[in-house]
Amino acid sequence: MMLNRLNHIAIVVPDLNKAVENYKNAFNVNISKKIDLPKHGVSTVFIEMSNANIELLEPLGQNSPIKNFLIKNPIGGMHHLCYEVENINDSVKILLKKSYTILGEGIPREGAHGKPVIFMHPKEFNGTLIELEEA
Ligand code: CO
Repeated sequence: MMLNRLNHIAIVVPDLNKAVENYKNAFNVNISKKIDLPKHGVSTVFIEMSNANIELLEPLGQNSPIKNFLIKNPIGGMHHLCYEVENINDSVKILLKKSYTILGEGIPREGAHGKPVIFMHPKEFNGTLIELEEA
């Protein structure tokens, strides 16, 4: 079995500050400081829960990869699920051998937690964008 635990569920929001206030108001949760990731074209915060995290994402800059998502989903929406794997390079090899489509030519890159990640095409997973993170 390749998948370990669910690391996070990522939700794209049009206004991160508003979304943070809303989560705090509704659920009285602790939320991490906002981190800008210019390389990834997103600003992000994490809500830590005992079994997984919620990642709220807001576009950053002109070429943000989540800009189009907000055009299609103006109030925001669920963007991806992140599963933990033991070894990202081994996982990529196995998945490519099974003909799955890995975005960005299957080369792991540093994700929001500083750990290597890849993304798998939603067309092969019932419309769900899947992130795999080595953890
Ligand atoms: Co993620």
